[in-house]
Amino acid sequence: ISLKPYNTFGIDVTARHFVSVSNIKELKQVLSLPEYTDKLILGGGSNMLLTKDQNKLVIHINFKGIDVISQDEDFVFVKVNAGENWHEFVLWCMKNNYGGIENLSLIPGNVGTSPIQNIGAYGVELKDTFVSCETISRSNLASQTFLKSKCEFGYRDSIFKQQKDQYIITNVTFKFTKRNHKLNINYGTISSELELMGIKNPTIQDISKAVISIRESKLPNPKIIGNSGSFFKNPVISLNEFEKLLQNFPNAPSYSVSNNEVKVPAGWLIEKAGFKGKRFGDYGVHKNQALVLVNYGEAKGSDILKLSKLIQKTVFRLFNISIEAEVNIL
Ligand code: EPU
Repeated sequence: ISLKPYNTFGIDVTARHFVSVSNIKELKQVLSLPEYTDKLILGGGSNMLLTKDQNKLVIHINFKGIDVISQDEDFVFVKVNAGENWHEFVLWCMKNNYGGIENLSLIPGNVGTSPIQNIGAYGVELKDTFVSCETISRSNLASQTFLKSKCEFGYRDSIFKQQKDQYIITNVTFKFTKRNHKLNINYGTISSELELMGIKNPTIQDISKAVISIRESKLPNPKIIGNSGSFFKNPVISLNEFEKLLQNFPNAPSYSVSNNEVKVPAGWLIEKAGFKGKRFGDYGVHKNQALVLVNYGEAKGSDILKLSKLIQKTVFRLFNISIEAEVNIL
């Protein structure tokens, strides 16, 4: 079958064998099929670049269901199955007035893959509301619960990313506020968007709306233009290196990471390298956010990969900074 509907980049490659599983029992059955040694686990398909036809058995994790498992007047614990769409889950929280992930509105992908790269945006990361997740081991099918302290969450990082292909996340439990929500509106673009909307005392629903509006203005909608969000991670460099950069580019932006490290927006480096808005046939660099590579129609994954390497090489030549891909290349 074609994997085009299963990856947000909209790359048209085929899977020789494909199965969609809707519960743990089915997943275990499929994982133990002896004739398929190589398997590819597919969630929302929002963080991958498919560069070739897949001979592996593609297993689509399609577990649905959202359950409130406990609550008091202040907090609620919600357990969500891996195949639920992330943004629809955020909207469900907004409808119920559960606070904590409103800043993460409109991020593509599914709940089950959100912990892998600890999705984050506008000053909030998944780990801030994450309590635990349940996994199945790919090698011995054992179930395991990972509490937050065991997940080794970092910037776009976790144990599930480091030990790639070890665990399949089957559900995630979150802790949200029911009142006295802790609002995160310090990220520059959010406060100015709220101001633009004429809102002084924002609710979590207002923040969600502001984030949706910012993302819609900056980031291409994958349903219209194929993409995988940020293609690269923002590089973390030493203060020393950053000072060298400032000598040549006094306006270089940065976010502080620690006493001696800063994160430089890769989008800025790529824009300065002249790639922003560049189009090569059916693929290119998005015009409003240089961090996002796009497929305008029938682009090949291998072409996008080539472009990403050219960008990495050019950025390194100009700034002596390596930028690393955030998406999985398959
Ligand atoms: N910038 C440019 N040119 C560009 C893009 C960005 O100069 O084309 C500079 C500007 O100085 C701008 C700064 O970068 O002020 C920050 O831009 P933005 O707020 O868009 O954030 P980002 O650092 O580029 C990160 C995440 C995004 C997330 C935003 C908002 C990574 C790799 N990306 O981007 O995540 O939405 O912050 O919090 O950390 C994603 O992961 O798919 C994603 C979109």
